[in-house]
Amino acid sequence: MEKGRTRVDLFEYQARDLFAKHGVPVLAGEVIDTPEDARAATERLGGKSVVKAQVKVGGRGKAGGVKLAATPDEAVARATDILGMDIKGHTVHKVMIAETAPEILEEYYVSYLLDRTNRTFLAMASVAGGMDIEEVAATTPEKLAKVPVNAIEGVSIEKAREIVALAKFPAEVAEKVAEVMVTLWKTFVAEDALLVEVNPLAKVASGDVIALDGKVSLDANAEFRQPEHEALEDKDAANPLEAAAKAKGLNYVKLDGQVGIIGNGAGLVMSTLDVVAYAGENHGGVKPANFLDIGGGASAEVMANGLEIILGDPDVKSVFVNVFGGITACDEVAKGIVQALELLKSKGEDVSKPLVVRLDGNNAELGRKILSDANHPLVQRVDTMDGAADKAAELAAAK
Ligand SMILES: Nc1ncnc2c1ncn2[C@@H]1O[C@H](COP(=O)(O)OP(=O)(O)O)[C@@H](O)[C@H]1O
Ligand SMILES: [Mg+2]
Repeated sequence: MEKGRTRVDLFEYQARDLFAKHGVPVLAGEVIDTPEDARAATERLGGKSVVKAQVKVGGRGKAGGVKLAATPDEAVARATDILGMDIKGHTVHKVMIAETAPEILEEYYVSYLLDRTNRTFLAMASVAGGMDIEEVAATTPEKLAKVPVNAIEGVSIEKAREIVALAKFPAEVAEKVAEVMVTLWKTFVAEDALLVEVNPLAKVASGDVIALDGKVSLDANAEFRQPEHEALEDKDAANPLEAAAKAKGLNYVKLDGQVGIIGNGAGLVMSTLDVVAYAGENHGGVKPANFLDIGGGASAEVMANGLEIILGDPDVKSVFVNVFGGITACDEVAKGIVQALELLKSKGEDVSKPLVVRLDGNNAELGRKILSDANHPLVQRVDTMDGAADKAAELAAAK
């Protein structure tokens, strides 16, 4: 069965550690979670530091999550400000106390990623890096060089020079940036990453280039050959529902709405999220509470596992089960739902939230009949996707 998590996004300090391991130039830094620890950490860095919020979202600088501290006392004060801060919905639980870069002259952007659409790896580089790179990419895309990278050939120093030339790096830093492109590629390959990004790659007064911020996403499907990666997963912050779902082998992602979603097939579940969000606009803005794909073989047990997770979410007010019968026909799914509800009841679970079920595809008629015959007080059948989404949103709003 597919594992729940396909990618593992790292914190900046973890990305920094991986960069250091593979020779990408970085500054010293240590992660702390209580303000007072900023003092000793700053003293170790020679008395000044940069206090950086560790949250898995960009734009920390603009949100006030990156602050210079000229003294150890100031570092404690800044850490006090930043710890507990909310940045785009992410609470800051840790900060990195980083060495201060010597005078920054320029900020560049470099990255590698898996480009699924074009079935290749892609190098991206720009001399217009820093905090406005998103805007650069959107408004002046010509400033962002994009170069496909052949998986077998990888990035030699020659290839790196080619990328650097296309991105028009100034001559005095070109070779240094090319060297970073090579070590960054090593990081990407050796760590089985899906993304490695440096923004900014700063040119400092000495003429050196240094990675001041890093973003890394690891490929969770490579965990079997990356025993060290398990320690990088953010267990404490991981949503308890996601952790429970992962333990059951379910492909589940918690969202912030009220309508629990179960479907078979990632594509169907994705469009279910859209349809529910759309329908929710007519019902006070209710939204999907989760993504849950129970896959092709939706046995009663898998259905029960899925329902258990969703019903255990206190945010969920109604559930929309959206199934398109394929390999597993609708009658099997319908039996699964009925059995799942019995199973949960027998386990003493609180099954009191309304379920809206839409069955279509293989053996839909038979499946619908099974549900009608079971006549479960909490289950309603609606045979169109839009209608069912509307009903589920209405029920969630009514709670
Ligand atoms: N160690 C550092 N020393 C000096 N300046 C830094 C340091 N780290 C970051 N900065 C500055 O802060 C800006 C924002 O920090 P960054 O780590 O890129 O966070 P984000 O991209 O989330 O805003 C950078 O573009 C850089 O100008
Ligand atoms: Mg950055």
